[in-house]
Amino acid sequence: MATKILGIGSYVPEKVLTNKDLEKIVDTSDEWITTRTGIKERRICSPSEASSDLGYKSALNAIANAGILKEKIEMIITATITPDMPFPSTSCIMQKKLGLDNIPCFDINVACSGFIYGLEIARNFIDSGTYSTILIIATDCMSSVTDYTDRSTCILLGDGSASAVVAKSDEGPGILGSYLGASGKYAELLYMPAGGSRQPASIGTVSQRLHYMKMEGSTVYKIAINSMVDAVNMVLKKTGISKDDISLFIPHQANLRIIQSVGKNLGIPMEKTFINIERYGNMSAASVGVALDEAARAGKVRKGDIICMVAFGSGFVWASNIIKI
Ligand code: COA
Repeated sequence: MATKILGIGSYVPEKVLTNKDLEKIVDTSDEWITTRTGIKERRICSPSEASSDLGYKSALNAIANAGILKEKIEMIITATITPDMPFPSTSCIMQKKLGLDNIPCFDINVACSGFIYGLEIARNFIDSGTYSTILIIATDCMSSVTDYTDRSTCILLGDGSASAVVAKSDEGPGILGSYLGASGKYAELLYMPAGGSRQPASIGTVSQRLHYMKMEGSTVYKIAINSMVDAVNMVLKKTGISKDDISLFIPHQANLRIIQSVGKNLGIPMEKTFINIERYGNMSAASVGVALDEAARAGKVRKGDIICMVAFGSGFVWASNIIKI
């Protein structure tokens, strides 16, 4: 028996925020954003949409794609850094929306590595025999923590969600292996200072704009490349797969130049690399999952293919995996 992704689904909000729109808000240009990041537009939630609303829609798509009844789901893991609220968990909110009850639900906070971390946690619960069908929802409304007066960050981020049903299957091989990493010493290079127990919300934290994401972009850029290259090399070594055997490479979509450097360092050609950053920007936990879903729907995922995913984000936390279809 194998542990595999039985179904995948995604959802992005309807509203499109283009580079031209951003030109009207901050001192930037379509030319600068396109050249430095590869991003042309991103999706933004409506005022009535939160992470669980996007997550619910992507979860329904994944369940339909898996071809199972939702009642088969035994656990919900939601990966998000933009929960609906600090508590209860967005997974509990999702459980109610899905009309399920009495199954374990919890959130993980691993930023952009959420989809891959979620898959690996699910794989371990399944391989140990504790559960057999787990729903992972990677969902982020980055627009809710974006400072639209900060031109160095507001151009990068967007909203979206991807879900996967992971289950035991007699049609293998499925998830071959993963590599998970983190380094808390970099916490303050990419973070949201207020809103937690360290600096609870106050008039002061709001007026100082401390409820928005802060980032030292150029330092993050360099560490992101090195960490993602290392994560791919580690998972290749762990699984005994050669980089030449990779049919499809799905890196986190934070910056096109990061993706190109990672591919170049690893010797993985751009033709094998899936890119959709131009339409969505960085959707944090959702990016890798949305890319996998779009690749599958575009017919780029075939029986026997070997897919390598890698991500990197706030923490810093990074992760990679290899799955065989
Ligand atoms: N439009 C126009 N100019 C801008 C700008 C914008 N949107 N944002 C920054 N600039 C300016 C800066 O003010 C700076 O001007 P200065 O030289 O006069 O001071 C100049 O462009 C260069 O800034 P720099 O930060 O060095 O640019 P960069 O090439 O490093 O690109 C990022 C900035 C943010 C695109 C890039 O650092 C990046 O992608 N970092 C990693 C982001 C990331 O992956 N984050 C999430 C990880 S999950």
